[in-house]
Amino acid sequence: MKNIVILISGGGSNMAAIVRTAEREDWERKLGVRVAAVLSNRADAGGLAFAQARGIATQVLDHKGFGSREAFDAELVRCIDAYAPALVVLAGFMRILSAGFVDHYLGRLLNIHPSLLPAFPGLHTHERALAAGCRFVGATVHQVTSELDDGPILEQAAVPVLDGDTAQALAARVLTQEHLIYPRAVRRFFK
Ligand code: GAR
Repeated sequence: MKNIVILISGGGSNMAAIVRTAEREDWERKLGVRVAAVLSNRADAGGLAFAQARGIATQVLDHKGFGSREAFDAELVRCIDAYAPALVVLAGFMRILSAGFVDHYLGRLLNIHPSLLPAFPGLHTHERALAAGCRFVGATVHQVTSELDDGPILEQAAVPVLDGDTAQALAARVLTQEHLIYPRAVRRFFK
């Protein structure tokens, strides 16, 4: 059985979409793949309860307890590697990861970003897209490299900007698309 470890910081709706798709499509039997653990850097991440209710192992590693990014990442690697993951999935994990972390998982580390990369890496993507007058926004699933929000693109979804749209409205419509493209990208990784 190949293990997936998912990292979250908040609501975990992308994580939940992957877990639900894995259940519905019976990835364990058909792909030999399971979501083995959900890790969060925040104890109040809403997604933890969802994972626990599904019988998935969860763990919280609070970055505030560490003196440096490298020290936190080294401990995070130790926690993740306990599950011997074939794939590590960043799903709203709001931490910049050190080069050492990225190198360790190179080729088996995915991220979802709420923009049509390479446009708008970083934060506040929908605000910036609206300010730039974009007619389309979207989301991207990509392999992670040591550059922020960079790396080979695996899946994208585009969402039209409507008259009077706010960043919040766009974020909500983009999120529903994220829930389709992230499970698809993970499935394709193993096919
Ligand atoms: C998602 O919109 C994801 O694309 C974004 O955070 C949200 C997490 O939602 N990720 C980033 O901004 C990473 N730079 P979720 O916790 O409900 O999956």
